[in-house]
Amino acid sequence: MNFYILTLFPQMFESPFSSGIFKRAIERQLVRVSIHNIRDYTHDKHHTVDDYPYGGGAGMVLKPEPIFEVVESVKSGISLNQEDDVLPVILLTPQGHSFSQQIAHELSRYRHVILICGHYEGVDERVREHLVTDEISIGDYVLSGGELAAMVVVDAVVRLLPGVLGSEASLLDDSHTAGLLEYPQYTRPVEYRNWSVPEVLLSGNHAQIAKWRREQAILRTLKRRPDLLDKANLCLEERQIVERLKDSLS
Ligand code: ADE
Repeated sequence: MNFYILTLFPQMFESPFSSGIFKRAIERQLVRVSIHNIRDYTHDKHHTVDDYPYGGGAGMVLKPEPIFEVVESVKSGISLNQEDDVLPVILLTPQGHSFSQQIAHELSRYRHVILICGHYEGVDERVREHLVTDEISIGDYVLSGGELAAMVVVDAVVRLLPGVLGSEASLLDDSHTAGLLEYPQYTRPVEYRNWSVPEVLLSGNHAQIAKWRREQAILRTLKRRPDLLDKANLCLEERQIVERLKDSLS
């Protein structure tokens, strides 16, 4: 999979992709990330990328020309196969759709994704209307630019690509994959400062362990993210457990 990140701050991307699973995925050619400096696509002496907003107001707005030109340049270097869908051109902005595990899964099916890191007060609306195919926000807060958001998106997608994680099975238990938060995990020692690992996990009874984990995931989701439970894939019995738990918690 190929990511093309368009940014005013290419140096921000030097370390995040050079360690851990990322480094391995790049070395094994499962993923390629190329960074493109938007400023390189300006033509004036001062390499101007932003300008005052028409109509007045605070802050600067990213000019359309360098962004159109960098996207067109990147696109011209990509040969799409017949099975390729459209090429997503995504603007990272607090005004975008909320990023989610589901969107990460959707993006992981593309061979090429272009990510544009927004900055300043925003980007010229013509970029939104005529260049990007989607806008993504990583949460309801405002970052100083789209760079960290682009890293979040790339990270969440790359770990879903076949062969990137040691064990694909671990993806199934991830928080949010099944619509629930993940159950509590323990490792050795069995007792630490008088705190013990729950008995059931030591029992070797896989059915009991699976049941306990499922209950814990539901309980944790109910306590921390009750909004997720409505959409979670629960059987009737589990729904009834949730209703009982809700009553006991209130
Ligand atoms: N740029 C600034 N804030 C952002 C956010 N929350 N998500 C994506 N891009 C951003």
